[in-house]
Amino acid sequence: MFSKNKTLGEFIIENQTEFQYSTGELSKLINALRLAAKVVNHEVNKAGLVDILGAAGDTNIQGENQQKLDVLANEKFIQTLKNREIVCGIASEEEDDFISINSQDKNHQNKYVVLIDPLDGSSNIDVNVSVGTIFSIYHRVTPVGTPVTLEDFLQPGKNQVAAGYIIYGTSTMLVYTTGHGVNGFTLNPAIGTFYLSHPNMQFPETGKIYSVNEGNYIHFPQGVKDYIKYCQKEEGDRPYTSRYIGSLVSDFHRNMIKGGIYMYPKSSKAQKGKLRLLYECNPMAFLAEQADGKASDGYQRIMEIQPTELHERVPFFCGSKRMVEKAEEFMKS
Ligand code: AHG
Ligand code: MN
Ligand code: MN
Repeated sequence: MFSKNKTLGEFIIENQTEFQYSTGELSKLINALRLAAKVVNHEVNKAGLVDILGAAGDTNIQGENQQKLDVLANEKFIQTLKNREIVCGIASEEEDDFISINSQDKNHQNKYVVLIDPLDGSSNIDVNVSVGTIFSIYHRVTPVGTPVTLEDFLQPGKNQVAAGYIIYGTSTMLVYTTGHGVNGFTLNPAIGTFYLSHPNMQFPETGKIYSVNEGNYIHFPQGVKDYIKYCQKEEGDRPYTSRYIGSLVSDFHRNMIKGGIYMYPKSSKAQKGKLRLLYECNPMAFLAEQADGKASDGYQRIMEIQPTELHERVPFFCGSKRMVEKAEEFMKS
């Protein structure tokens, strides 16, 4: 079926003129991400066969155990972007600090910075459950020709030029937006080509799925507890179904297709929640809004938040518009 469809490569070329700063640089960047996605997909797929499962023995800046595949995915994405000399800076969930990229001939001439969560849901790797990669792209704010600074990375999500994810699932997909809707491409592994399989993806306005780690229930704010009880109540189209994979990319992807809400609220254990504003929440918020959904911290739009640090965390409510609005109502009362 897909063979009749457009490939990602063709789609990028056709849509190049839609980009805000159309010099082909963003197209090249998305092409590089496409390549890195294929490489990481290859590694993820053979994870059980070679010695890349399990912990790497290190912890990242956020004190989390790094899995071997976390480290590997991080290296592959950074190497691919560095080698192609198409970005001026990279920030990654797995790196303490941002990386400034320069090359002799280009002298800091590149315009874009990329922020990545190289492997999302990594605690699922060892048990063969879907994981993903999340990316977020901004135009630098400091002048071209100078090294990037922290300021280039600490931009509110509404400044994003593009964002997307790769889901290494039953099939591997690359889903992204450049601010003109959301399109999903499925990898045909036999020939290593992504085909446009899900054009113009949209969240149903409302849905019947809620996704939250209910094990944390007693630690949640009262508003979240009340909203969860609302989801479980027998009334109208409720009770809803509970589905939680523990891999944001996978939970988001399912909810976008079927309709639903994903929540990672703050708790008495984690005052700012768990998810990272720059590597996880902003890119997912951009995709959600471009797909007719909504993303909030419970009170305000995620993409309005001015970040103050690279690895900042934020409570996250994201999905079908009406469901996120309902959750916000409960948070307010
Ligand atoms: P990461 O693997 O990049 O650290 O992200 C894991 C995130 C997210 O993908 C997932 O939804 C959430 O953490 C799960 O957290 P809990 O295990 O606390 O529910
Ligand atoms: Mn993650
Ligand atoms: Mn990660």
